[in-house]
Amino acid sequence: MGSQPELRILFSQEEIETAVKRLAAEIKGDYQDKYPLLLGILKGSFMFMADLIRQLDFPLEVEFVRLSSYGGKKESLGRVKVVQGLHTEVEDRNVLVIEDIVDTGLTTSFLLDYLGKKKPASLKLCALTDKPSRRQVPVNIDYLGFTVPNKFIVGYGIDWDEKFRHLPHICFVEIED
Ligand code: IMP
Repeated sequence: MGSQPELRILFSQEEIETAVKRLAAEIKGDYQDKYPLLLGILKGSFMFMADLIRQLDFPLEVEFVRLSSYGGKKESLGRVKVVQGLHTEVEDRNVLVIEDIVDTGLTTSFLLDYLGKKKPASLKLCALTDKPSRRQVPVNIDYLGFTVPNKFIVGYGIDWDEKFRHLPHICFVEIED
């Protein structure tokens, strides 16, 4: 990236806060007696996870995994592997995966498949954002923050080439041709 790309706000800090509170209320309703394991996907989910769990006033555990997709930088090509694995037993746990964005769905479906083989008591997905226009494999999102148009987004943990994760709002990038 040479010159700075133009960023336009898609979801403000306030809109994100409202969405996080709504998701937390839904999750609390379903999990407050289930001692869930919230499993964040690094790095993109770190800010969302931090805000979400502060709204959850019941017992839970937090874990992170880091995945890498190889073959493409901005897009996964379906070849995904776990590069920083689970240190918590998943079997018989109620696992809630926390994702930043579901785009083609390849990364998420790989992870859900990987976790499903470990025999959790239940396995659900909470995604901050969803870009359904880009989907290549079906993914069922149980708790969704925002549906986004077919644009590249950054901010609130989500990066472009490791930049812009610190932004408090979600922007889309105007890419010049
Ligand atoms: P998928 O496997 O295509 O669903 O992509 C998942 C991953 O691709 C996300 O976790 C992001 O790391 C990255 N990604 C997809 N779309 C965007 C975007 O608009 N902005 C930043 N990263 C993205």
